[in-house]
Amino acid sequence: MTDMAAENRRRAYLRALDIDVYVLRGNSEIEPPPADAPDATDSAAAAVADVESADWATLEQAVPACTQCVLYKTRTQTVFGVGRRTADWMIIGDAPGAEEDQRGEPFVGRAGKLLDEMLRALGLQRNSVFITNILKCRPPEDRDSAADEAESCRRYLERQIELISPKIVVAVGPIAAQNLLQTDAPLGRLRQQKHYLSDGQRPVVVTYHPDYLLRSPTLKRKAWEDLCFAQRVINETSQ
Ligand code: URA
Repeated sequence: MTDMAAENRRRAYLRALDIDVYVLRGNSEIEPPPADAPDATDSAAAAVADVESADWATLEQAVPACTQCVLYKTRTQTVFGVGRRTADWMIIGDAPGAEEDQRGEPFVGRAGKLLDEMLRALGLQRNSVFITNILKCRPPEDRDSAADEAESCRRYLERQIELISPKIVVAVGPIAAQNLLQTDAPLGRLRQQKHYLSDGQRPVVVTYHPDYLLRSPTLKRKAWEDLCFAQRVINETSQ
């Protein structure tokens, strides 16, 4: 890494730590959710579409039409995911919250802003990664997801991962990590290790949820170490 790149990274991470640094920001344009995304009243045919072989257009129809679990009854809209569809990095959280449910986009609240800063510290823009959740619908009162809800949603996420084919999947928070890795191990034991999805090929790295980092800011340093670890996994894989 050049000195300039190292300095830029340091400054960006200082920003993520809430320490003001005056730097010129790059273009952080965010890919908006598709304007023509159909709503849940779309045909049942879309909901039962062959998700396993779906292309993006089919998937974008199937998700908003989904009624596979109870969450469709209380959602404002589904939250499909945003970002580059050929991204090297795929970031996966647990479920949309109130703001995400309103806007139809993942990680748009305070936690999302922190996630953006941490990505920027790595030299990544929000629109150069792909961000989504285990669940595409908000659980009422932001409760934890139920096993059957995660199971119903799994095929959408799996297809997104296949279509994107990222070099790394970063699970943020224990719920995302445990769902993705099908384990009940605590987050502390999952961090700083290279895991694989069930296909045995796609590397997964685990870190803290930005919501948790907002409440425990001293852990931001460890989260940064996790992101650097993820970058090393990509570098090793690309050699
Ligand atoms: N928390 C998540 O895990 N995902 C979101 O989209 C927002 C908050």
